Amino acid sequence: MAEQNAILKVGDKEVELPVLTGTAGHSVIDVRSLGASGYFTYDPGFMATGSCESEITFIDGAKGILLHRGYSIEELARDADYLEVVHMLLHGEAPDAETYKEFKQTITMHTMVHDQVNNFFRGFRRDAHPMAMLCGTVGAMASFYHDDLDISDSEQRIRSAYRLVAKMPTLVAMCYKYSIGQPFVYPSNELSYAENFLNMMFSVPAEKYNITPAVARAMDRIFTLHADHEQNASTSTVRLAGSSGANPYACIAAGVASLWGPAHGGANEACLNMLEEIGTVDRIPEFIAKAKDKNDPFRLMGFGHRVYKNHDPRATVMRESCHEVLAELNLQDPLLDVAMELERIALSDAYFAEKKLFPNVDFYSGIVLKAIGIPTNMFTCIFALARTVGWISHWHEMLSQPGQKIGRPRQLYTGESQRSYVKIDK
Ligand code: SDX
Repeated sequence: MAEQNAILKVGDKEVELPVLTGTAGHSVIDVRSLGASGYFTYDPGFMATGSCESEITFIDGAKGILLHRGYSIEELARDADYLEVVHMLLHGEAPDAETYKEFKQTITMHTMVHDQVNNFFRGFRRDAHPMAMLCGTVGAMASFYHDDLDISDSEQRIRSAYRLVAKMPTLVAMCYKYSIGQPFVYPSNELSYAENFLNMMFSVPAEKYNITPAVARAMDRIFTLHADHEQNASTSTVRLAGSSGANPYACIAAGVASLWGPAHGGANEACLNMLEEIGTVDRIPEFIAKAKDKNDPFRLMGFGHRVYKNHDPRATVMRESCHEVLAELNLQDPLLDVAMELERIALSDAYFAEKKLFPNVDFYSGIVLKAIGIPTNMFTCIFALARTVGWISHWHEMLSQPGQKIGRPRQLYTGESQRSYVKIDK
């Protein structure tokens, strides 16, 4: 892939660096040999730094394109279900009908968790944030599964991947049930992945939960829209944790922790809270002014993206899903009116156009999740559930690549020069 070289001239030095070109997107300057020149690159926030080579997902931020294994997110959201996307992210190809049937059965057979997991929850406060419970219980999974911790064995890596994809809905539903004081609901093998999750969330021993097809379809689509997104903060966290040889459950727990932040996966919860704070369309200008005020730390949650500078294709699909779900459930949600008007005003405001701030995946997801009956403080857990396949696919890909090294960035040191220590009694 090295087609040409870049020449770096600095001081009296001239360094030649290979330029690597992929299938699409930016070519990269390979700086792995740069250290010998006495220089490092410097890129806090990784604004222009590629951390790895990957075949899983491609994003074109300027054109608003998102591909998983070459398939556009729009087509996958329309024509595939989440487990088909899971299969292609993990294995590289969409399953044919026969493979899909076997794959679905395999995942289904891993949906239960060890019954002692119930005891972990007993230690949490009932009002603990569900992400705190999820972070703890995912990491603790390593205490139950000792037959898939040899990360050098591809088969064991895939088995742990299947376990995680299968068990996340069960763990997320347990976080919810524990927080509302209802008994845990076991998985049901005759239900689809999304139906099973909804059933574990909303059924109670006293009465059957009637699954609405529109709700199950919307839930499945939300999982697909959140499945993977290249080298975002939480995926990079999982890769870095995995580069030290940590077990898959510890790595995914690290991903859950990173996703929790309001600048990342926590934005869907923060966005709905913001829409509720705005409350009515006439208060939108007040919040737009706050978002533009340099002295005000307030940001429009659900707007902006490090990569997308045109539009987030997932937001477009999510907006359509929003209208469909509310119409099919015959629901009116004034927050949708606020969201639509906020989007309209923001997109016509020079500040947002100049800063390339568009609604991202988190902007509409909260409204759909609320319409489905998911409480706001569970939104990021849903994101973590869906993103687990992306995290574990990148982890598996990294460990499959030859010459994989531990991630260890360098720094620009601006601290004290060496000085002598004076003993305290002097
Ligand atoms: C996700 O990376 C991924 O792929 C993530 C994700 C995934 O699928 O994994 O897509 C999921 O995390 C989506 C993003 C969810 N976060 C939010 O909605 C929170 C609100 N958005 C921002 O915090 C922000 O836009 C980020 C974090 C998403 C992106 O930040 P960047 O790229 O580091 O940009 P920045 O913070 O440097 O902002 C650039 C400018 C700044 O103004 P100046 O200092 O240049 O004057 O734009 C302004 C910011 O103040 N700005 C905003 C804004 N976002 C950026 N101003 C108002 N409202 C906002 N939302």
